[in-house]
Amino acid sequence: MKSYHIETFGNVNGLIVREHPTPTPGPNEVLVSIKATSLNRRDILILQQTYPLPSKQGVVPISDGTGEVVSTGNNVTKFKKGDRVAGTYFPRWRDGRIGLDIGDQPGCTLDGMLSEFVLLQEDWLVLIPDYLSFEEAATLPCAALTAWSALTSPPISPGNTILTIGSGGVSLFAIQFAKLFGAKVIALTSRDENTGQLKSVGADNVVNYYSNPDWSADVLKLTNGQGVDRVIETGGPDTLEQSIKATAIGGEIALLSYQGKINRNAEMGLNKILAPLFSRLITIKPLFVGNRISFENMNRALSQHHIHPEIDRAFSFEEAKDAYRYFAEGKHTGKVIIKVS
Ligand SMILES: NC(=O)c1ccc[n+]([C@@H]2O[C@H](COP(=O)([O-])OP(=O)(O)OC[C@H]3O[C@@H](n4cnc5c(N)ncnc54)[C@H](OP(=O)(O)O)[C@@H]3O)[C@@H](O)[C@H]2O)c1
Repeated sequence: MKSYHIETFGNVNGLIVREHPTPTPGPNEVLVSIKATSLNRRDILILQQTYPLPSKQGVVPISDGTGEVVSTGNNVTKFKKGDRVAGTYFPRWRDGRIGLDIGDQPGCTLDGMLSEFVLLQEDWLVLIPDYLSFEEAATLPCAALTAWSALTSPPISPGNTILTIGSGGVSLFAIQFAKLFGAKVIALTSRDENTGQLKSVGADNVVNYYSNPDWSADVLKLTNGQGVDRVIETGGPDTLEQSIKATAIGGEIALLSYQGKINRNAEMGLNKILAPLFSRLITIKPLFVGNRISFENMNRALSQHHIHPEIDRAFSFEEAKDAYRYFAEGKHTGKVIIKVS
């Protein structure tokens, strides 16, 4: 079997393919034939060694993958040959609070999914919804679950207004889930040409946050001066100051990133944050993807409502480096897939 490995860090030239014997499952393990993987910003950061968690040398990259169970160990009870499964972003985090001792991640500290076969503990897997293709379901472990967590911990209410930032995987899932929960969505993009697609997945209003640096004023206008109930904050230092201005009294900001992309407000001072946060009693909650029980809950909701992930482009296994380059450019809308077999 073939697997990609990060031989050297820095850029895609460090990705190499190695041949291995196909492994045999131990008593609690499941052998999965991987069909599709999806890229996330973290996969770029890991390659560039700018991710907060140091990666192991030679790791198989990519956290998100789906496939079919080929064989199972003698003690495995939850899965059988032929089951359609996905790996989890934090395999050791079942539920409750995250901790350093359960913080391992595939494609970083553990071998990931860019491989023809992977061997995983049965507790590290979830069944994927029947109605989704392997490619569609490969978008779920990180981007979809992050959006789900940002809207469910604590849960938003029907009638709330949600703000999303950009046209990446997390934001598009956040729009789709917010509509499922009966919320209104204001979506920001730096590309006017994305307005149609953002509206087609459920955005009620779209605002260009690049050509209009004071975009919080538009958001306030669209909410009758009240502000939004929850910001799905994917811009970090580029957008946080405006996000705070756009949030309603008592509202919440699900903080998903601390690294900006466009460097607009990188020098933002604490005084610009603390006074409005305190005077308007806004909560900032950092979130890191989610746990397995949340993933299973999300899959039940998906199966009930048949939401389809937005896939921008799919590359072949042989084109993995091109997929990395394409994703790193940031011109995609939704998810970028690498098919495996
Ligand atoms: N905390 C967590 O658990 C968690 C999980 C997943 C992701 N994240 C973070 O959330 C953010 C979004 O993740 P994602 O997977 O949705 O990312 P993505 O697919 O790469 O999308 C990023 C979006 O940001 C906008 N953008 C603006 N300027 C950009 C630039 N110079 N380069 C790239 N993108 C630019 C683009 O939207 P427009 O063109 O519409 O503006 C782009 O589609 C990332 O910062 C990621 O690290 C956090």
